[in-house]
Amino acid sequence: MKTYFYKYLVSFLFIHILVNINLLCLASNPKDLPTKDNKLGKRLYFGLIKTGDNTVNCASCHNINVIDTFNWNPSIADLTLSTKNMDSTTFSKILLSPLGKRISDAHKNVQLSADQIVLVREYINSFRKTGLEPPKMKINRLLLFIFLLICIVGISVDLVYTQIIRYKIIHVIVLILSFVFILKITIEDAISLGRSKGYAPLQPIKFSHKIHVGDNKTDCFYCHHTAEEAKSAGIPSNGVCLNCHELILEGTNSGKFEIQKIHTSVSNKENVQWIRIHKLPDHVFFSHAQHANVGKLNCSECHGDMSEDHLATQSADLSMGWCLDCHRNRKVNFESNEYYKGTFEEYQKKFKDKMIDSILVVEVGGENCMKCHY
Ligand code: HEC
Ligand code: HEC
Ligand code: HEC
Ligand code: HEC
Ligand code: HEC
Ligand code: HEC
Repeated sequence: MKTYFYKYLVSFLFIHILVNINLLCLASNPKDLPTKDNKLGKRLYFGLIKTGDNTVNCASCHNINVIDTFNWNPSIADLTLSTKNMDSTTFSKILLSPLGKRISDAHKNVQLSADQIVLVREYINSFRKTGLEPPKMKINRLLLFIFLLICIVGISVDLVYTQIIRYKIIHVIVLILSFVFILKITIEDAISLGRSKGYAPLQPIKFSHKIHVGDNKTDCFYCHHTAEEAKSAGIPSNGVCLNCHELILEGTNSGKFEIQKIHTSVSNKENVQWIRIHKLPDHVFFSHAQHANVGKLNCSECHGDMSEDHLATQSADLSMGWCLDCHRNRKVNFESNEYYKGTFEEYQKKFKDKMIDSILVVEVGGENCMKCHY
């Protein structure tokens, strides 16, 4: 009876493992990606063929995989787009004798013959249809995963066949622990897909708040000027960027590439497709004017210190509890506030008579369902 139970348990685990391995393989190599058959171009791109005194690995700067870290260099998918209509002389020049400070530093060691350049370009172009390859699984996570699998297999074999370890409790503990960790890895990966607090997607242009707000001290309202009188803070249009980037054509970190995207989108008469980060559900009403203008709250109270990071991040969880927590503890700037002139007469009188010295947001309706919900 007991051995039957263990055999069932072990078969169940094996099936589970097989399914998991399959899922992993699918994740790292989806079928719809055609194999890149231009092997020579690929080897050149990865710097695997000696081309001169210094062999350059293009992939070390122009990544071919989707990455979730901020990288100033254009990805290979960026390159396919920007070089789409480029003639071959210009293309060679960009590699061998480019103009611009950042790019001439980056490409100074590139030594490729005309034929090799054609091959590399073909390799770059092969990404036009497919886009970047899926992210590489982090190596130590993969190692941990494999280690856990080996534990499960080893202990199962011992449980049923070899029986070297005498106490069954040890088998059970190892099995349970390995499973818990495998579950943990899987769940963490699943959550990170749909996370919202800490959400910081890569944007179509590598726009950095650190550089604009932190280093160059541009005021938030310069770009998000509707935050003063409207519900939405707004995302700046191309025109706002051009105020400065009509003249500033090259950035220290990204060279001309990222700033050029502003000009391209202007000449295509389209707006940059910024990816929206903060998004309350439709049934919630939130106004920036009420908070940033009337309430005189600092942007950083809700958005954190934006001057520290290149990538904009959602720093609060935007839950109902988060709104209410602040409303329950925060004093309204009542007396000197134009907004409250002529309203809340009872409070105004109490203030004058010095019967109260402060009013919390909840006392002016900060907990009233209808103020926040349509
Ligand atoms: C030079 C223009 C500029 C300035 C100055 C600027 N921003 Fe932005 N901001 C942008 C652009 C462009 C985006 C969209 C791209 C992105 O998310 O990084 C953005 C995005 C954001 C977002 C995320 C919007 C979303 O999609 O949810 C927040 C929050 C934000 N800015 C807050 C601030 C704060 C706070 C300051 C002042 C400390 C500030 N910004 C200053 C241009 C600017
Ligand atoms: C108030 C002036 C100003 C405005 C407005 C402005 N920028 Fe900038 N931007 C700068 C300055 C200054 C730099 C730094 C240039 C350098 O690295 O020397 C810069 C750098 C950049 C860089 C390159 C960063 C690097 O180091 O490579 C990008 C990309 C960029 N801005 C995008 C934008 C976008 C997109 C907008 C509009 C949403 C915008 N900027 C609006 C002043 C501005
Ligand atoms: C050290 C990092 C680095 C290496 C190595 C490197 N690049 Fe670049 N490359 C850059 C940067 C940064 C830019 C954008 C600079 C700019 O536009 O001012 C760029 C721009 C380009 C562009 C121009 C895109 C455009 O439209 O202007 C092409 C094409 C290109 N790289 C191809 C290559 C190839 C092929 C290799 C390998 C032989 C290579 N790069 C190696 C950093 C690098
Ligand atoms: C009381 C908290 C709070 C303060 C203070 C605040 N924001 Fe926001 N911000 C939010 C919330 C909540 C959202 C999401 C709004 C939505 O989805 O409707 C948001 C969204 C944004 C967005 C995305 C575009 C939009 O309007 O939906 C930008 C940009 C932004 N804020 C910039 C700013 C700037 C700049 C300031 C300072 C002037 C500021 N915020 C002050 C809470 C705040
Ligand atoms: C960091 C503190 C803080 C957070 C977080 C905050 N608020 Fe507020 N809120 C205030 C203050 C302060 C006022 C009062 C401003 C004033 O009128 O002087 C206010 C006022 C309001 C009002 C107007 C109330 C009235 O009586 O007219 C509404 C509506 C509101 N908030 C909605 C929200 C929503 C929705 C959220 C969450 C998405 C939120 N707030 C998050 C501080 C906050
Ligand atoms: C200060 C603003 C504020 C007030 C006041 C407020 N809510 Fe909410 N409420 C929110 C926000 C923001 C969300 C969205 C939360 C999210 O997306 O997780 C929300 C979500 C909800 C939801 C959807 C469930 C959920 O968690 O998404 C319900 C139901 C709800 N509120 C009911 C109420 C009721 C009933 C009241 C009055 C007692 C009330 N709310 C008062 C801000 C508020």
